[in-house]
Amino acid sequence: MSVLDLAPVVPVVVIDDVETAVPLARALVAGGLPAIEVTLRTEAALEAIARIAAEVPGAVVGAGTVRTPADVEASARAGAGFLVSPGTTPSLVDAMLACGLPFLPGVATATEAMALAERGLTELKFFPAEAAGGVPYLKALAGPLPDIRFCPTGGIRPGNAASYLSLPNVGCVGGTWLTPADALASGDFARVEKLAAEAAASR
Ligand code: 3PG
Repeated sequence: MSVLDLAPVVPVVVIDDVETAVPLARALVAGGLPAIEVTLRTEAALEAIARIAAEVPGAVVGAGTVRTPADVEASARAGAGFLVSPGTTPSLVDAMLACGLPFLPGVATATEAMALAERGLTELKFFPAEAAGGVPYLKALAGPLPDIRFCPTGGIRPGNAASYLSLPNVGCVGGTWLTPADALASGDFARVEKLAAEAAASR
């Protein structure tokens, strides 16, 4: 499975209340975005991954903000279907390769991308996308590194998602704009579904 090809947009989700996990994931799937990245930034994250994996047919739930080998192990145990990291250290990439799940290791430069390509990894997260150079930077990488594809994340919004998705070396984009904290807090999952449907149509 290529994480980059699951959907044009991967919602990056911060879940504070585990009770929101299942209705939130159902809304994203109903809106047409089946790949969901739950960030390991909250106490609720691992339980949220477990519940979505068990209770939401059609969802492919992954763990984001994976920083350590221990995060890899905990995510796999919770039932994550893929892993995403903001950057890549040697021990992290070793653990990700060993665990057998598909993963998008994070990079922000040509050198980092080349180092991972040497290890056979050519599907990467580009983070923080806007701050690290955005569309012009990725466009510049496509010439010398045509075999490497990216999921840019960090600063992607409805206004710039399509520009990223038009690049030949971008498989999908990720972002938090689909799941605004106030919508989750108020249980406004209809709004989440609407945002997902709009994003799903962006390519
Ligand atoms: C992240 O991992 O935080 C993502 O890059 C999300 O960034 P965003 O909030 O700018 O979408």
